[in-house]
Amino acid sequence: MQFFSWFLSVSFLSVLLGSVHASESSQVITPKVVVVTLFEPERNAWLDKMSFAQNISLPGGSPLFPYVNCDKAGDVCLITTGEGEINAAATLTAFLYNSRFDLRKSYFVVNGIAGINPHAGTVGSVSFTRYAIQLGLQYGLDSREIPKGWKYDFWNYGTTKPGEYPAYFYGTEVFEVNTNLREKVLDLVKNVKLDDSNVTMANRANYSYAPANQPPTIFKGDVMTSDLYYTGKTFGQMATNLTQVLTNGTGHYAMTAQEDNAVLETLVRAHKAGYADYGRAILYRTASDFDRAPPHMDDYEYFEMINNLSGLSKPSENNLYLVGSKIVRAIVYNWSREWEKGVAPQSDNAYGDVWGTLR
Ligand SMILES: *[C@@H]1O[C@H](CO)[C@@H](O)[C@H](O)[C@H]1NC(C)=O
Ligand SMILES: *[C@@H]1O[C@H](CO)[C@@H](O)[C@H](O)[C@H]1NC(C)=O
Ligand SMILES: *[C@@H]1O[C@H](CO)[C@@H](O)[C@H](O)[C@H]1NC(C)=O
Ligand SMILES: *[C@@H]1O[C@H](CO)[C@@H](O)[C@H](O)[C@H]1NC(C)=O
Ligand SMILES: *[C@@H]1O[C@H](CO)[C@@H](O)[C@H](O)[C@H]1NC(C)=O
Ligand SMILES: *[C@@H]1O[C@H](CO)[C@@H](O)[C@H](O)[C@H]1NC(C)=O
Ligand SMILES: *[C@@H]1O[C@H](CO)[C@@H](O)[C@H](O)[C@H]1NC(C)=O
Repeated sequence: MQFFSWFLSVSFLSVLLGSVHASESSQVITPKVVVVTLFEPERNAWLDKMSFAQNISLPGGSPLFPYVNCDKAGDVCLITTGEGEINAAATLTAFLYNSRFDLRKSYFVVNGIAGINPHAGTVGSVSFTRYAIQLGLQYGLDSREIPKGWKYDFWNYGTTKPGEYPAYFYGTEVFEVNTNLREKVLDLVKNVKLDDSNVTMANRANYSYAPANQPPTIFKGDVMTSDLYYTGKTFGQMATNLTQVLTNGTGHYAMTAQEDNAVLETLVRAHKAGYADYGRAILYRTASDFDRAPPHMDDYEYFEMINNLSGLSKPSENNLYLVGSKIVRAIVYNWSREWEKGVAPQSDNAYGDVWGTLR
């Protein structure tokens, strides 16, 4: 009996030692920054400029992007989720709970190209997000069948017409990020000289009003997440209205996206579970095109025209790295002095998800 238990514990120990030995070549990576991109052009904006010595396969990752790329020191990793809300949530969930990574102190620099509201900015501009709003969680009716007088085809759960505050939530409709971190990061990037081109300049000239017809800037704006790739004036106005309604008038619709609420939901859950710090999420979008035609143009024809324009999105892709590399460098170089301890978030009711999971 005695001998048997001794034998058991020795063999248990050797299994343990064996596994420690085997994992030497696969040490846990503790990135200071995780750059999160959604699809190929955004990924390439980073890959073209940075070299990644370690490519780590990610079980459960996107079939299109099966590796997490990390630099030699393991300070910076790049992940690409695949497009749309489902891909973003599934990929990041696989990443956040993978034992090869310790992400508890990692900053998540989430960045992608986007459509822009011409009343908020212009092509090439960069918007740092406070609120991410989800469009899809509403009732909908085709405009040929909506009651007379309705401006939009969508209305919130538990309500009877467009523009009312929802009676209940699914939980992913509204996120507010750490606005203290947003301020700190905006201060870092405020002097970045944005890329621009003659193609974007010509496109801007279609609009007779500012800020659409002005040079690109870095500004504060909110993002509308929608799997549906919408375009046009009515959708744009609806996005503004939904943002206003869901944030009690404090949000400003600026950018379109197909992933951001999914990304933030995975971070809220990972935070709750002790695997990540939601307060270290930084979101920015760079505008590749306008979300609607100028007043004098047909929305469908305009959409077709800009989809056929070559080079329109190039400045927005370049601006992802121009802005983001400043943030990444600052975090890595000044890690122990400034960043390791984190940036305390604001203490308002909207921080995190709409249910107050992090309060
Ligand atoms: C890692 O993957 C990137 C992107 O596919 C590639 O450019 C790079 O050469 C790879 N690095 C290594 C060490 O295999
Ligand atoms: C949102 O749209 C509805 C319906 O058109 C309107 O009644 C409401 O005033 C709008 N709210 C805001 C804040 O724009
Ligand atoms: C932009 O410049 C390129 C080369 O400099 C030229 O080929 C192209 O026609 C120009 N496009 C516009 C819209 O001016
Ligand atoms: C509108 O935009 C297109 C595409 O960028 C451009 O070719 C055209 O010259 C612009 N028209 C005006 C009036 O600015
Ligand atoms: C809007 O008001 C509701 C009801 O008072 C509150 O629960 C919610 O947190 C507010 N949302 C934001 C974004 O301030
Ligand atoms: C866009 O490109 C497609 C395919 O190249 C072409 O069939 C279509 O006529 C173009 N549309 C416009 C508005 O230029
Ligand atoms: C690190 O912090 C110092 C002091 O705030 C600042 O001057 C420097 O630019 C920072 N380094 C980077 C790479 O941002």
